[in-house]
Amino acid sequence: MERMIFATGNEGKMREIRMILADLEVPVVSMKEAGISAEINENGKSFEDNAIIKARTIMELTGEPVLADDSGLEIDYLDGAPGIYSARYMGEDTSYDIKNQAILDQLEGVPDEKRTARFVCVIACAMPDGTILTSRGTMEGIIGHEIRGKNGFGYDPVFYLPDCCCTSAELSPDQKNDLSHRGKALRLMRELLKERMEESKEESQEENKAE
Ligand code: IMP
Repeated sequence: MERMIFATGNEGKMREIRMILADLEVPVVSMKEAGISAEINENGKSFEDNAIIKARTIMELTGEPVLADDSGLEIDYLDGAPGIYSARYMGEDTSYDIKNQAILDQLEGVPDEKRTARFVCVIACAMPDGTILTSRGTMEGIIGHEIRGKNGFGYDPVFYLPDCCCTSAELSPDQKNDLSHRGKALRLMRELLKERMEESKEESQEENKAE
């Protein structure tokens, strides 16, 4: 394996991915660096489905090992919405100020114990031999009562972390990497990939011995 492609066009995500996967023996490159662009129809019914669809589509296009992620916010009081539709919730072009205010309005008067929510991230890896690996990370919290904080993106300003006494938009980037759903899923995937690379090394050593 000479390199892995991470199927994202998001540079912010790529920085985080590179930091966490830095000690893998193979470099991880973005779609842009690999010179690939593709429209992917994310029509799965779960974060796992969508991450696998993205990774498999680019793997089939390039013949190289590909990583992809899918993530979103699940709000228990809203039966898990926006969930896999987090990016598309109220329309892709609607600002997060409007989306976040709409969430606060729907939870108006709801007590803290019923405001539980989590960010979910699933990473999938599709290998040219057909192997699929997946890892899942979550960050638990509650929906706050106001929009707070300027860091992060998306739903961070309404996602309150009771243990930190702040929203995820008030965490520094390093703190968020430590705690976040994406950080956890990436670290798990790093371990799965290391195991897999060790296994392939052992297999090729066995083959060499047999020859
Ligand atoms: P995707 O995984 O790039 O498809 O993004 C899913 C959507 O989930 C994003 O557009 C955000 O709305 C939301 N989301 C995922 N992770 C985070 C996060 O760490 N903070 C805030 N919003 C997030």
